[in-house]
Amino acid sequence: LGTQKINAQGHLEIGGCDTLALAAEFGTPLYVMDEALVRENCRRFTQVFTDRYPGEVEVSFAGKAFLTMAMVRLVQQEGLALDVASGGELYTALKAGFPAEKILYHGNFKSDEELAMGVAAGVGRFVVDNPYELKRLSELAAAQGKTQAILLRVTPGIDPHTHAKISTGQEDSKFGISVSSGLALATVQEALSLPGIDFKGIHCHIGSQLLDSHTHEDAAEIMVGFVAAIREATGFVCTDLDIGGGLGVRYLPSHNPPSYEEFADSVVSAVVGALEKHALPFPRLMLEPGRALVAEAGTTLYTVGPIKKIELAERTKTFVSVDGGLSDNPRPVMYDARYSVLVAGRAAQATDTTVTVSGKHCETDLLFPELALGEVHSGDILAVQTTGAYNHGMASNYNRFRRPAVVFVHDGQADVVWERESYDDLLRQERLPQRFLEE
Ligand code: LLP
Repeated sequence: LGTQKINAQGHLEIGGCDTLALAAEFGTPLYVMDEALVRENCRRFTQVFTDRYPGEVEVSFAGKAFLTMAMVRLVQQEGLALDVASGGELYTALKAGFPAEKILYHGNFKSDEELAMGVAAGVGRFVVDNPYELKRLSELAAAQGKTQAILLRVTPGIDPHTHAKISTGQEDSKFGISVSSGLALATVQEALSLPGIDFKGIHCHIGSQLLDSHTHEDAAEIMVGFVAAIREATGFVCTDLDIGGGLGVRYLPSHNPPSYEEFADSVVSAVVGALEKHALPFPRLMLEPGRALVAEAGTTLYTVGPIKKIELAERTKTFVSVDGGLSDNPRPVMYDARYSVLVAGRAAQATDTTVTVSGKHCETDLLFPELALGEVHSGDILAVQTTGAYNHGMASNYNRFRRPAVVFVHDGQADVVWERESYDDLLRQERLPQRFLEE
C-alpha cells in the first residue's frame, strides 16, 4: 500500500523511513502520514473524474478527515479545493494561506460569528443547510455590502446502508432540507429572491465509508431530477452540482470499496445519464472526498506495555495494552471500527494468535477486541493501518493525555507537522481565580 514495505530487517517501512526508528525518534503514539500516497490520491481522484465528465470538475478535500496546516498546503499544491465545516477549520485554512475562493463552508449550524467570518474572508461557496441559515447569511452578507455564492444542502432521502452514526442521506437526517417534502424547492425559491445571496446549485452528502456506488448513483439521479424541477419551477438552471464525499476504504482485507475508476464510472454515468434525460447542460460536478484521500496513507504507531493473560474455562484471553487508545482513536468505541495491525519490528510474521488490544485510558477502550496478531511482547511497536482519516482530527485529551505528534514521511525524510502536546499545553487554558489561591 502506498510506499509501505518490509525492509531487510523485517521492519515496516513507510516513505523510506523505518517505523521503529520513527517511534524511537518521535515517541509513541505517533501518527505517520505517507505524503506521496496522499499526493497521488489527490491527483488520481481528480484525474479519474476529469477524464470521464464532459463538464468542469471540482474536487474538494473534506478537511474534517484530516486537517493540519501542512495538509492545507498540500491540498493547495495539488490543486484541489477545500471543504471546511467550522470556524476553526476555516481559520486554519486561511492561516495556511489557502485561497478563500476555493473554500466550501459546510455545517448545519454556523454561528453569526462564523457566517460573518466566512463572508468577510471571501469564501467561494457557503453550503447552506437550512432556511434559518439562509436568512442570517443574507442579512450578514447584505450588511457587509457583499453577495455570497451558495449551494443548498438537500437530503435526497436515501439510506446509504453504512453505520447509522455516519448516515446522512436519509429523510430523517439532521442535515439538509428534504427534497420530497417540497421544502427544498421552496428554499431555493427564497434563495433566488434574497438580497446578498447568489444561488449556484445544490449539494448532498449521503453518508461515509460507503463500500459500493449504488447509493451515489441513486443520489445523483435524484439530485439531477431536482435540478430539473428547479428549472421547471423557476427557470433557473443550476451551475453547480455537488454530490459530497463518502467513498469508503479498505480497513480490513474483507472490505472491497470501489476503486477510484469504478467509483467515477458509476457516478459520472449516473449524472450524465440523468442530465441527458432532462436535457440539462453540464453543471460543474463537485465532489468532497475525505477518507478516500487520506485514510490509507495514515499509520498509528503504539508501544506495547503490559500483557495480561487471563485463564478462562475455554481459552486463555490475552490483553495487550498500548500507550494510546480512546483519545487518539475513538473510532472503535464509536463505530465498532476495525483495523489491520502489524508488529512493526516483525512485519512479515505469521498472525497465528489472537489477542485483545486495549488502550491505557480509565475506560474499557478496546481498540481491537479480537485481533489476529501473532507473537507480541512488551516493548514491541504496533502499527495500526488506515488511520489517516478521522483519527488526529477526532483526538481528545481525555484523562489529560497529550495528543500525539503527526509526522509526514517522504523519501526517507520525516517532518513533524503537528507537535506532540506537552504537559504545559494541557495547562494553557487554566485560570486560578484568587480565592482558589488562598490557603
Ligand atoms: N462532505 C460532507 C458534507 C461531509 O459531511 C463529509 C463527512 C464529507 C464530505 C467527507 O466524507 P468522507 O469522504 O470522508 O466519507 N467521523 C466519522 C466520519 C464522519 C463523516 C462526516 N462527514 C468516522 O470516523 O467514520
